[in-house]
Amino acid sequence: MTLVPGDLLAQFGSPLYVYDEAELRHRCRAIRDAVPLSDVDVLYAMKANANPALLQIVREEGLGIDAVSLGEVRRALRCGFSADRISFNGNNVGDSEMSAVRKAGVHVTVDSLSQLARFGRLAPGARVAIRINPDIGDGHHDHVITGGPASKFGIEHRRVGEALDVATRAGLVIDGVQHHIGSGVLDAEVFLKAMDVLLSVAARVPDHRFVDFGGGFGVPYAPGDATLDLMGFGARAAELMIAHREATGRDVGFRFEPGRLVVATCGTLYVTVTAVKRHQQQVWVGTDSGFNHLLRPALYGSYHAIENVTSPDGPLETVNVAGNVCEAGDVFARERSLPRCRDGDVLAIRDTGAYGWSMASTYNLRARPAEVLIGEGGPQLIRPREDEEDL
Ligand code: LLP
Repeated sequence: MTLVPGDLLAQFGSPLYVYDEAELRHRCRAIRDAVPLSDVDVLYAMKANANPALLQIVREEGLGIDAVSLGEVRRALRCGFSADRISFNGNNVGDSEMSAVRKAGVHVTVDSLSQLARFGRLAPGARVAIRINPDIGDGHHDHVITGGPASKFGIEHRRVGEALDVATRAGLVIDGVQHHIGSGVLDAEVFLKAMDVLLSVAARVPDHRFVDFGGGFGVPYAPGDATLDLMGFGARAAELMIAHREATGRDVGFRFEPGRLVVATCGTLYVTVTAVKRHQQQVWVGTDSGFNHLLRPALYGSYHAIENVTSPDGPLETVNVAGNVCEAGDVFARERSLPRCRDGDVLAIRDTGAYGWSMASTYNLRARPAEVLIGEGGPQLIRPREDEEDL
């Protein structure tokens, strides 16, 4: 089916997030099949995109859920995930949230020694996992590197003995270890090195039933970005896992928590050009969206491919593409070569399925965009545009 973005925007309004169901299913399957071993589970990190329609597809494809808040747990339960398919990995979580998650029947991973002790008071005798900082981190930007000495996350890997003592005193059983070293990682070697550290920590935890290696798999956003060889990584990860099962004599299960890799490429944010200014030194293409709808370029300097889908064949011009938020940093792209833009042209901002809508805000009191899913039956509205009443 050929879909004309202009028609979609005429029907659903501009700006608009559009997701491709076939691409989403393809990604779920590729990730699920990457590690050639039984009892390797994929938990979708729903913070990347928690639209219920997408969650249902992810569930149909057999993935579980990595949740970081009570809100995410509740959304996942409402979308049909059973409690035992959800893993809670919160950071600096308070007692009431932890206890509500536990009451919902969802397994908890704690990320500090004090949280472990508090969990023991809330749920004596329970099984709990611990988040480890393996002292290795990586990611596309400092803000998203979650392993290593500068990170607020996890229990230092050298302190696993203390965690075991705290758990014993609190009457808890540590049944799993987890880490997440960062986000947007494109180097498989870093993952494998950190996995090695986590497995050696796991070997010291006598009752562990699972090892969870977190998420963080990057996607190439810009021309020339590396691509993670998922199958190659999966084969080498499987070797580490088999060796761990053999060395410990335990029937350990393994988990990954990808977010970006599942949903990034299935999403496009369509925006409309609302001004073109040919200043003396720079050309500014203004649009009807901004960092209120797609924060990644402003927050991390992230690159997203942009196409002029109305006039793809026009003469190329070097431009800055900006939003309509009243801040100078509200820029989607600088010095991009685009076919000449005019007011009314539709631009496609690619690979925005992950951390796009989920990080959107109502800053400047502008509504968040609608979301549309393109499946076999054509476009389906999966979240209406907010209106002034919502604001
Ligand atoms: N597991 C845990 C415990 C996490 O904290 C995260 C992401 C993931 C899994 C999934 O990571 P992924 O596979 O998506 O890289 N807003 C940033 C990304 C922040 C990621 C935070 N944690 C961005 O737009 O790049």
